[in-house]
Amino acid sequence: MASALESTTHSLSKLGIDGGFANSATNLLKNLPLLSSEQIELAKMLMEMGQSHLFEQWAEPGVDVEEKKAFFDQVARLNSSYPGGLKSYIKTARELLADSKNGKNPFDGFTPSVPTGESLIFGDDTFINYEQAGVKEAKNAAFVLVAGGLGERLGYNGIKLALPAETTTGTCFLQHYIECILALQDASCQLTEGECKEIPFAIMTSDDTHSRTLELLESNSYFGMKPSQVKLLKQEKVACLDDNDARLALDPKNKYRIQTKPHGHGDVHSLLYSSGLLKTWHDTGVRWILFFQDTNALLFKGIPASLGVSATKQLHVNSLAVPRKAKEAIGGITKLTHADGRSVVINVEYNQLDPLLRATGHPDGDVNCETGYSPFPGNINQLILELGPYLEELKKTGGAIKEFVNPKYKDSTKTAFKSSTRLECMMQDYPKTLPPSARVGFTAMDTWLAYSPVKNNPEDAAKVPKGNPYHSATSGEMAIYRANSLILRKAGVQVGEPVQEVFNGQEVEVWPRITWKPKWGLIFSDIKKKVGKSCSVSQKSTLVIKGRKVFLEDLHLDGTLIVDAVDEAEVKVEGSVQNKGWTIEGVDYKDTSVLEEIRIRGFKIKKIEQLEKNFNEPGKFSLKP
Ligand code: UTP
Repeated sequence: MASALESTTHSLSKLGIDGGFANSATNLLKNLPLLSSEQIELAKMLMEMGQSHLFEQWAEPGVDVEEKKAFFDQVARLNSSYPGGLKSYIKTARELLADSKNGKNPFDGFTPSVPTGESLIFGDDTFINYEQAGVKEAKNAAFVLVAGGLGERLGYNGIKLALPAETTTGTCFLQHYIECILALQDASCQLTEGECKEIPFAIMTSDDTHSRTLELLESNSYFGMKPSQVKLLKQEKVACLDDNDARLALDPKNKYRIQTKPHGHGDVHSLLYSSGLLKTWHDTGVRWILFFQDTNALLFKGIPASLGVSATKQLHVNSLAVPRKAKEAIGGITKLTHADGRSVVINVEYNQLDPLLRATGHPDGDVNCETGYSPFPGNINQLILELGPYLEELKKTGGAIKEFVNPKYKDSTKTAFKSSTRLECMMQDYPKTLPPSARVGFTAMDTWLAYSPVKNNPEDAAKVPKGNPYHSATSGEMAIYRANSLILRKAGVQVGEPVQEVFNGQEVEVWPRITWKPKWGLIFSDIKKKVGKSCSVSQKSTLVIKGRKVFLEDLHLDGTLIVDAVDEAEVKVEGSVQNKGWTIEGVDYKDTSVLEEIRIRGFKIKKIEQLEKNFNEPGKFSLKP
């Protein structure tokens, strides 16, 4: 042991002094007896990788002992949670920082073209067939929700998953997602005549969201899902970098801690792989993994059809997409063909698409085509991967995703950063390493149906240029009412025209506040069976359907109606319901007397009068006001 320590001391001192870091090396050497043999190895690695500055301010032996140990605990964590360890992280960082400094174009040698995919029209026969195929296949699906983000743009104090998706019922995003998955599970079981399976659900959290996500689940009995069905995977942050040599940044508040920041949602691939979850799922017959994000309440309206497309076309990768306006701030799904013949279908970020097009023979860059939209479908970052090929690929890569770095330089010499940076990776970059033989496609559908995330705070949302989506709590909630109204219209219901209103400086369409539990209306063919042709719902109305077997026969609603029923109760709703209903009142986001989750949407619901009926027993019932 003594000789091992001596030789380490020798090699460390050599490294330090040769590197001109006599002071820091001496500091480390003096503290060496404090360290375990594993920690000494880590120290050696740090010195070898040019990180001696980390020890520059270390105190004399005997001082700050616990802090010094905690430093190495952190280094060990950073080392083990990154594929290839810290050495690999620093090496990659140096390469990417050099590329960034030299202004290297990541798409050099590639020519963009529009990939082939499936563009769906809500409610037509193709859509309905895909939905049915998707529901059938859902018994072989697993869902993965990435929810480790900071949510800095929204600035909400809680976790985004706990925010109400809409305030008519107050259902939060996580509850909505779980109810959608359970509804799919039940529907799939029924369609496949009792071949029933639980759909596994994994949530990626981070230190910023983990405990609050767990608490939200536990305090709500997992919203009806079995706790064993849900698996939380926590992503670790990565080390920050101070300069182009990838010197790790120390926490400004603690000289014994490396500063860390989130690595991005791309971590989900390595976590799923290293946790063994993918293998477990594979062994239990899971075939499709559906990745989704924290605040898109509309997503599940597009999931059954998209899964149907994956299954029918046997796609290894299927990206959900919406029509994209040229220059809109969402990435475009693009086929990139290299001069050497390689090709890949991948998301190209909006700020890279325009220069890429201009550099490859499209002098106008990112412009709309004759449809009025960009020919490149807009990526909404919801992916469906086929598990078999996915697992094979991850066996090769360990789940490592091509990273990028985005330093904010102090000046044009690009030698110093305004603040520390770090490597980042994105979930949608997974196909970058796939061979050309991989079947990679997309499924596009209308934005109103499938995409309305909540990302921006009221102030920033109000500054969004006219015509572009706000992506705020206000627009996210209104989009739910609009989608449900349009779906009922398509099913034959007369739904009142929306009115324009301004909340928190954002002009939005206010449709009747129609909501239903996913088990009532998971797919369009189900909804069509449950609504008669002669129903009407006026603009001022609120309709809440909570029962599975609620049938709207010839309902004329002008007010608020809430129908709740146990699964075994079949309820026919007929006749005219008229009352003062629930109104919408504006509130200001700066008014702190109002709850944060309410004021960030700029309105609250005033419950004046309603007809509310509960059916708690099995049987057949008629609701005739
Ligand atoms: P966003 O782009 O919305 O980022 O992430 P964000 O971190 O939540 O919000 P901002 O950028 O700070 O405002 C898209 C999805 O990816 C998840 C988020 O939770 C969200 O569901 N995400 C993001 C992670 O899981 N981990 C990360 O490191 C980053």
